[in-house]
Amino acid sequence: MNTSKTTYSEELVFRPLPQLVIDANVNPQEFAAAQAAAQADYLAYWEDAAHELEWFHKWDAVLDTTNAPHYHWFPGGQCNIVHNALDRHITTGNKNKLALIWEGEAGDSKKYTYYELYREVNRLANALRSLGISKGDRVVLYLPLIPQTMITMLACAKIGAVHCMVFSGFSAKILRQRVVETQAKVVVTADGFYRNGHLIALKTLVDEALMGGSDSVETVIVVNRATLDVHMSEARDIWYDALIRQERSEAATEVMHAHDPLFILHTSGTTGEPKGVIHGHGGYMVALHRSLNWVFDIKPTDIFWCTGDLGWITGHSYVVYGPLIAGTTTVMYEGHPLYPQADRMWDIVSRYGVTVLYTAPTVIRMLMRYGHQYPRMHDLSTLRLLASAGESISPDTWLWFYKNIGHSQCPVLDTWWQTETGSCMITPFPVSVLKPGSVHRPVPGIMVDIVDDQGQAVPTGVQGNLVITQPWPSMLLDLDRNSQKYQSTYWPLKTHWYWTGDIVSRDEDGLIWIHGRSDDILNIAGHRIGNVELENAFLAHKAVAEVAVVGIPDKIKGEVGKAFVVLRPDFAVLEDRNEIIRMLKEHLRKEIGPVAVIRVIEFVDTLPHTQSGKIARHILKDREAGIAKDPSLLAES
Ligand code: PRX
Repeated sequence: MNTSKTTYSEELVFRPLPQLVIDANVNPQEFAAAQAAAQADYLAYWEDAAHELEWFHKWDAVLDTTNAPHYHWFPGGQCNIVHNALDRHITTGNKNKLALIWEGEAGDSKKYTYYELYREVNRLANALRSLGISKGDRVVLYLPLIPQTMITMLACAKIGAVHCMVFSGFSAKILRQRVVETQAKVVVTADGFYRNGHLIALKTLVDEALMGGSDSVETVIVVNRATLDVHMSEARDIWYDALIRQERSEAATEVMHAHDPLFILHTSGTTGEPKGVIHGHGGYMVALHRSLNWVFDIKPTDIFWCTGDLGWITGHSYVVYGPLIAGTTTVMYEGHPLYPQADRMWDIVSRYGVTVLYTAPTVIRMLMRYGHQYPRMHDLSTLRLLASAGESISPDTWLWFYKNIGHSQCPVLDTWWQTETGSCMITPFPVSVLKPGSVHRPVPGIMVDIVDDQGQAVPTGVQGNLVITQPWPSMLLDLDRNSQKYQSTYWPLKTHWYWTGDIVSRDEDGLIWIHGRSDDILNIAGHRIGNVELENAFLAHKAVAEVAVVGIPDKIKGEVGKAFVVLRPDFAVLEDRNEIIRMLKEHLRKEIGPVAVIRVIEFVDTLPHTQSGKIARHILKDREAGIAKDPSLLAES
């Protein structure tokens, strides 16, 4: 890329290299034409995109708005995402192409061609059917980054069951909540897995979660990942290998309506309870197909590596469904980027010849700390495209990634999206002129605006709420068991204005910059966690009378939690505050899991309240930011 400091509002901008423009699936003229066509008729634009995939029966209309804001994409359409992600490849040149390259933390690896993956998925699909699982049933997955996780997701989708992944970094307590909420009939887990040199015993947590029984769970399927000596409950638990041993490698693919649920994924909101976001088969696959081919510019020879965990939306969309629908080779790595040392990711890139690398700012910041000698140990010349998601990437992090990993040859795409949006909404294309720190423009077919709290558009340079002003195919279908909340959370002003909860601005070049959330949600290392969720976890401890959690900046994780705790009188008199801190941190780990990073716990006598009695977190946050509004409210530190 050429670096230019003089043009484009006189800021540091990066223009694509000529060869990249020549090779791009979508060149600047095509991009402009697609934008204009989508602006003129966004339904026709998405209909074209839908025609690129295979359907059992084509739709009667592109969009049904009768029950807005419950939108219904491609009504009458019949399909199955697995038909497009796997089945259709078996009759093409993709049959013997690598679908998945998996590497364990210990260095073991496994590769699956599309045909091999297809056979494995079919065997598990048959096994699930033999357990009585059918269309609409829910299956909870509590699994690490191993091939069986992908196989289980696809097998569920193939038979029309709804998978619900619970991130393996969550606690037994959260797992239990998800099982109860979803009324899952089956839980799929592993005996254990490897993470940063440690062996994490996962099955034990499942046993803890299901202790005392569960109304719904009939079977627990256990993958032998670590050959751990685990307790198997005779009537309930079965080893994955034993279950599929006798199964045939052909299985019928369930015919689904476009709007039928594919998965539920929980994400944090402003209230204590995480929301179960539901995505469906039809619209989701259409948007992902466009995303892979247009944004990620997929070519037949690509090796695509998205480092997201399958427990989050990034893993669902850009490790599993998107790459497979696009017929590319997807890479999955079980372990930690620093294991055994800080070059693990670069080693993987060079050994498999990764061409497109999609990761998160928190990972880049972590690796940056170790300097450029680690990337220099490896040949990274296969890379042609870099991307990041989940949180803002600061210009210095962007530049480090661009120079040290992309060798100033690869565009860095800062992609903005959410669990609810299903696929990238605002992002540069490889051919875009890039400004580090900006997420650029909405992709064609996505319409956005920036408005104040009353819905009035804000001028250039002024911060406001990001709204998506037209429905889009990969939008969430609903919230599980909570349609009311779906409406009030996401469509507060108008039934066609999706409220993202993000505060953003647009610069004089029309590019969008993300400034953070407008609501009480922390973004810890790219993971969304509600302040209230963390506070509720603290309140479950007998030492805590009152608590407020706010986000504070962190060099690596972007943001971590700080808790202001008012102790109950019998604990307030204890002198060993360090012991109380240790106890509370341990308690948080048990309640939520290692994702809940509380860096600092400060004991206070009282907390500031609003007139209506709510805790005024903004006062604490402002104080943390050095803008003390009323320090007298914080008696003790
Ligand atoms: O605040 C935005 C932030 O992450 C939120 C969505 O998180 P989640 O549902 O976990 O989905 C992650 C999918 C990537 C958004 O509301 N966010 C996401 N991408 C960016 C971002 N913040 C700044 N820049 C981004 N590129």
